Amino acid sequence: MQKTFIIFFGPPGSGKGTQAAKLAAKIKLPLVSTGDLLRQEISKESELGKIARKYMDAGKLVPDELLEELVSRRLKKPDAAAGVIFDGYPRNGEQQEFLLGKLKVAIRNGAKILGILVDVSDEQVIERIGGRRACLCGAVYHVTFNPPKAEGICDRDGKKLFIRDDDKPDVVRDRLKTYHKQSRGMFDYWEKSGKLLKIDGGQPIDKVWEEIEGKLESRINLE
Ligand code: AP5
Repeated sequence: MQKTFIIFFGPPGSGKGTQAAKLAAKIKLPLVSTGDLLRQEISKESELGKIARKYMDAGKLVPDELLEELVSRRLKKPDAAAGVIFDGYPRNGEQQEFLLGKLKVAIRNGAKILGILVDVSDEQVIERIGGRRACLCGAVYHVTFNPPKAEGICDRDGKKLFIRDDDKPDVVRDRLKTYHKQSRGMFDYWEKSGKLLKIDGGQPIDKVWEEIEGKLESRINLE
């Protein structure tokens, strides 16, 4: 397959992580979720994790230079050679410039790059995040819309699911504000360059996936 980079955009709780994981499994590219990478740093109690935690708990973006370090490290791994699916990166103009700079040579040499915006209303965000249960392995469930096979246990690794610290209602409101203020401005670039697929994320999980597959079919090889 042609070297491919796909970036999932969308508000917190829109379901972009759920859909990004489906696509990663389908086209066999690694999923790079900056939220998951940061949570792993926090659980390791690394210096980066200790700094990141303060921002995440406040619903704010972690400083760009820490993300640059994490993303650069991840892109150097051999499995990223054929491309990557990004979930949650970039999130502002600076991060976007950094990423496009990093991928410049690959794009010049014919790599495909596309953005997928999974859009939902703020009300749906609140409903979805309210029922979310997560696992440190990156798997995500919802108590009603996508429950695990055994209550409170991850289907993938059998570990206990948890409620994310930043899923408290007041932090969610701050995350939404951060998204509207810092992330939405990026979409102009993707729209104007014809590289943005807009998806109605308000539908059930399978329908959102069908729309993504349908819109991607004419842009990349899904087999
Ligand atoms: P991150 O973990 O990336 O959080 P987020 O972007 O706020 O997105 P979420 O993970 O909350 O939601 P999602 O859209 O992936 O939805 P999900 O699939 O889980 O980042 C956390 C924090 O880390 C940030 O606030 C920031 O501090 C920091 N950070 C991360 N990246 C950064 C960056 N680049 N720069 C700076 N800081 C950064 O679905 C949500 C729930 O809904 C689940 O329960 C799911 O089962 C359910 N669901 C999914 N789809 C549907 C559907 N269609 N119908 C019904 N339910 C659904």
